[in-house]
Amino acid sequence: MPFYPMKKNIYILAIESSCDDTGAAILCNDKVLSNVVANQEIHTQYGGVVPELASRAHQQNIVPVVHQALKEANIDKKKLSAIAFTQGPGLMGSLLVGTSFAKSFAQGLGVPLLAVNHMQAHILSHFIVDDAHKKPDFPFLAMTISGGHTQIVQVNNYFDMTVIGETLDDAIGEAFDKSAKVLGLPYPGGPLIDKYAQLGNPKAYPFTRPRIAELNFSFSGLKTQFMNFVHRNTQQNPNFIAENLHDICASLQYTIIGIVIDKLKLATKTTGINEIAIGGGVSANSGIRTALKNGEQKFGWTTYIPKFEYTTDNAAMIGIVGYLKYLDHDFSNEQTIANARFKI
Ligand code: KG4
Ligand code: ZN
Repeated sequence: MPFYPMKKNIYILAIESSCDDTGAAILCNDKVLSNVVANQEIHTQYGGVVPELASRAHQQNIVPVVHQALKEANIDKKKLSAIAFTQGPGLMGSLLVGTSFAKSFAQGLGVPLLAVNHMQAHILSHFIVDDAHKKPDFPFLAMTISGGHTQIVQVNNYFDMTVIGETLDDAIGEAFDKSAKVLGLPYPGGPLIDKYAQLGNPKAYPFTRPRIAELNFSFSGLKTQFMNFVHRNTQQNPNFIAENLHDICASLQYTIIGIVIDKLKLATKTTGINEIAIGGGVSANSGIRTALKNGEQKFGWTTYIPKFEYTTDNAAMIGIVGYLKYLDHDFSNEQTIANARFKI
């Protein structure tokens, strides 16, 4: 490993390509100078992410996205101190695009590579310096909730993390998106369920919560229950969905929020840790945000919710982990390969 001198200002280009968003960000130390994301519209018509199409779209997007990130940060690529990239977990074809790009770019510039775990990045996004955001204190509990993940992680320090609960089947975002599909809503349906839920009665239709041991989650039973409920009712009344959309969405969301809050109550009780930081696309959900905030009074916990642009998949969160690894001299090299099942 060559010697890389420690500079006052470390400029990192970070690349994220684990799923269907192509992201590039420039950080100067722990501050974000630019954070560009190209969303892939192509998947909307298929009702979910098509891995092969995602990989192709990353190939088309990556150069323009990196170019845009450098332009917005107003720095020349020769100023970069290192390149950080998502090594995993994620879709293999998508990860390969970011990994290959990062390796060649780093080699071309003669700067070190920083391989980042996407799940650690969701958690450590709370350490991006931002005036409006207070950082959590160690130890804290991190809950990552998105279309691909549902985990509760005990975070003792930046790179000392243990998964203490996770989904045994579908991710929470899938519960939202697959239920939305049953209602005929476009992908991703989570934000629409949230929008309609705000106009409906959360107690209109009672759904059963799964009984899953300890801190693990399961959403596939709720998905089946919801599908059967909608089919049964539309058989009796073909206009059931249109006439009751708000109440259906509110009831489903209420059930999902209940599952999340119950697990967090148990997690704080078992660990004795009352600091909760959330991340992932589903943390944009208004009901979950309100329930977490209300829990501060009710259950005595403190919650940390990152800025929306650092909540969904983005490269700034990859950059902050890259920066922390740079400080530790935890560099990777051109032999590093994408790891679709990379564990925390
Ligand atoms: O983190 P993210 O952008 O990508 C990954 O899946 O990794 O999360 C996307 C997920 C989708 O399932 C989407 O439906 C869900 O986050 N989502 C929401 C909301 N906004 C995004 N789910 C519920 N309510 C929302 N407001
Ligand atoms: Zn993610």
